[in-house]
Order: sequence, then structure tokens, then C-alpha cells
Amino acid sequence: MLLVVGVALVAVAGMGSASASPAVQATTPAQAFHPTFRVLDADGKNVLESGLPMSTMQTCGVCHDTEYIEQHSFHADLGLSDFSDASLELARPWDQSRGMFGKWDPLTYRYLSPTDSDQIDLTTVDWLKLYGARIPGGGPATTARDGTPLTELAASAENPETSFVDPVTGELAVWDWKKSGTVEMDCVLCHTVMPDTAARTEAIQTGDFGWATTASLLTTGIVTKTDAGYTWVESAFDENGELKSGMLQIQDPSNENCSQCHGVVHTDAQTPLLLDACDQSMPQTATTGQVIASQKINESAINPGIRAVWRAPGISMPNAVSSVQTATMR
Ligand code: HEC
Ligand code: HEC
Ligand code: HEC
Repeated sequence: MLLVVGVALVAVAGMGSASASPAVQATTPAQAFHPTFRVLDADGKNVLESGLPMSTMQTCGVCHDTEYIEQHSFHADLGLSDFSDASLELARPWDQSRGMFGKWDPLTYRYLSPTDSDQIDLTTVDWLKLYGARIPGGGPATTARDGTPLTELAASAENPETSFVDPVTGELAVWDWKKSGTVEMDCVLCHTVMPDTAARTEAIQTGDFGWATTASLLTTGIVTKTDAGYTWVESAFDENGELKSGMLQIQDPSNENCSQCHGVVHTDAQTPLLLDACDQSMPQTATTGQVIASQKINESAINPGIRAVWRAPGISMPNAVSSVQTATMR
């Protein structure tokens, strides 16, 4: 059952090949064919002129229908659209959606506070800081529960969509979305070689939301960061203000792209897959058993009959992922 999740992941990535030779994992040399382009900010201006963060919706949106991609991806939505569907039957009375945004998380015991809640646990801002590193962006990271862009909400400390819990006082304080920016769907995470996930995580956890995608470009040399902030590197662009060919290596997602959030990737069909449940660097695998592998269960070193052995003590199955999986894969 646990490996089935892995198989589903591989199938979505279009990598469901039965032989997991290293060639399957190799990077598609797509960048050789991908046209060069300008990097644009949220207003559609070249970042070389504005010095502002990259907007994926604008940059990639010149040629790809980014709005469509975001609106048809559960990775972006994460349950946001359920808020506008009153007819939905949810698993628990206190769930607000079927996705990570609004569904109670029994592993962390954290709860996204409803807008009319007297007792606030997680506001949208705090939810984003807590989980942002593990979500691709877009959906609830840019848009309020009623569909308004977060940056256009009237700011008030009373509203959990425009406030955060001040860690010093424990009181709700107003959050300025216009100043922080929002986390757009980060195409870079899934479609480039070696995105800088550590830098992206830091930007999100410090509430520097608008710079998150730019931060994931730090490994490419297109942009640098000092204490003063981010600076676009002019030499990475040509005389037309377009990124030089190969500076951003665009490809179909590799296993590594998906494993950033989904846990252990096992591509070697010869060596039996063995999991270390105590490895917290792969929390998704440690807590839910999710892996990406094309190896058959009976060829792995995992005996599904003794799954209990590598379950965290005190945590009962069924795991949090399997229900969403059923909902989204249908
Ligand atoms: C100037 C137009 C343009 C821009 C801007 C652009 N693309 Fe593309 N993209 C294309 C074209 C044209 C193709 C098809 C190339 C081909 O068939 O080889 C393509 C192909 C792709 C592919 C498929 C690659 C593959 O291996 O088949 C991906 C993924 C992709 N683009 C992602 C992006 C992302 C992410 C961005 C923003 C960072 C972006 N593109 C910006 C024009 C563009
Ligand atoms: C969570 C990972 C993820 C994110 C984020 C993501 N994509 Fe994709 N994208 C995929 C997968 C998986 C495919 C299917 C690839 C395949 O068929 O091999 C895909 C396919 C594509 C394709 C078609 C490629 C082809 O070969 O025809 C384009 C173009 C594309 N994405 C652009 C984007 C853009 C632009 C963004 C940002 C707005 C984006 N994607 C965000 C995972 C992602
Ligand atoms: C930035 C983090 C991130 C990346 C990168 C990512 N995912 Fe996800 N993925 C998520 C989150 C978050 C969910 C929703 C989990 C939930 O609601 O409990 C999810 C859900 C899924 C699901 C639905 C099943 C499930 O586990 O809930 C599939 C299938 C999936 N992802 C496949 C992929 C594939 C294939 C890739 C690589 C192209 C990929 N993901 C890359 C974060 C990511």
C-alpha cells in the first residue's frame, strides 16, 4: 500500500517506466530547445530595470498559460477552492477543506483558523510560514478564501487572513501582504535543475513571501543575495534583457524535483529499498511512508506485514496522505 503511493507519484510525473535505470533519472536536455526569455516582475516589467522579484505568472505566462496551469493544479489549490463549495462533505466536522489548506493535521495538531474563530491557532500568514517550504505556491499562498487576491484584502488584525500571531506578545497583529508579497506557484521548483530550496524556505519562513521564487534561483547565478537584499546579475542576461541560453535549465520534472517535498526517491532496481523512519530530513517519508520508487513491493526490503515497525510510536494509521490522494487522483 505504501509503495502504491510511490507508484502513483511516478505515474503523474510521466516517468512510470518499469526499468529504473539511471537513464530514467537523467535530466532532459530540454534547455537546448527552450527559447530564451525575459524575467518579469509582477507588473510585467523586466526585473533588470525594476530590481523587483521574479513573477512566474508573468515570466512564464508570456508563452505558457500560467493561470490555467495554476487553476488546474491541486498542488497549487491544496483545498482552497473547497471553501466556496458549501455542499462538500468533509471527513471531520472541523475540517474546512479536503486539502492541506483547511484540513486538520493530526500529525502537527495545528489548525487553520476559520475567519469567524474566537480562538486563533494558525492565521493564513502563520500557515504559510509553517508549511510554505513544502508547498509549490499559488492557491492559498496568493489568494484569499473568497477568491480575492491576498494583496487586495482590507487589512485588519481581527481577520485571520490579514493577521499573524505576534510570537512575543501572543496577540494578533496586522500583516501587510502588499509589503511582504505572496508566494506564486513556483514553476522553478519542478521545472529546473537544482532549485535552491533552502533559500526559498528561508524566505518563506521569514515572511519574505514575494522573494521566495527569486530565492529558489540563487543556485543559478542569475541573482545574488547580500544583507541588503537580492540583486539581479546583469551578466546573466543578453543585450536584449533576455536570460542567456542555459542560465535557467528548464526541463520536465525529474525525480529529484518531486523528492524535494515527497521524500525518498529510489531508482536503483537492483538494491532493495530500505527506509529509515528516523530520518527527519525526509519528513514526508518518515511520517507517512511515502516514497518514489518503481521497484515492486516484493523486491524491496520492506515487508508490508511489519509496517508497524517503522511507524512513529503513538501515531496511528491511516496516514494523512492517503485520503487526499484518493480525493485528488479520482
Ligand atoms: C518566450 C516564450 C517562453 C517563455 C517565456 C517560457 N517558455 Fe517554456 N517553452 C516555450 C516553448 C516554445 C516550448 C517548447 C519547446 C520545445 O518544444 O522544445 C517550451 C517548453 C517548456 C517546457 C517543456 C520542456 C520539455 O522538456 O518538454 C517546460 C516545462 C517549460 N517550457 C516551462 C517554462 C517555465 C517554467 C517558464 C518560466 C520560467 C517558461 N517555460 C517560459 C516557450 C516559452
Ligand atoms: C509540483 C510540480 C510542478 C509545478 C510547481 C509546475 N509544474 Fe509544470 N508540470 C509538472 C508535471 C509533473 C508535468 C508533466 C510532465 C510530463 O508530462 O512529463 C508538467 C508539465 C508542464 C508543461 C508541459 C511540458 C511538456 O512536456 O509538454 C509545461 C509547459 C509546464 N508544466 C509549465 C509549468 C509552469 C509555467 C509552471 C508554473 C506556473 C509549472 N509548470 C509548475 C509539474 C509541475
Ligand atoms: C514544493 C513541494 C512539492 C513538490 C516539489 C511536489 N509536490 Fe506533490 N504534493 C505536495 C503537497 C503539499 C501535496 C498535498 C499533500 C496533502 O494535501 O496532504 C502534494 C500532493 C501530491 C500528490 C497527491 C497525493 C498525495 O500525496 O497527497 C501527488 C500524486 C503528487 N503530489 C505528485 C508530485 C509529483 C509527481 C511531483 C514532481 C513533479 C511533486 N508532487 C512535487 C508538495 C509538493
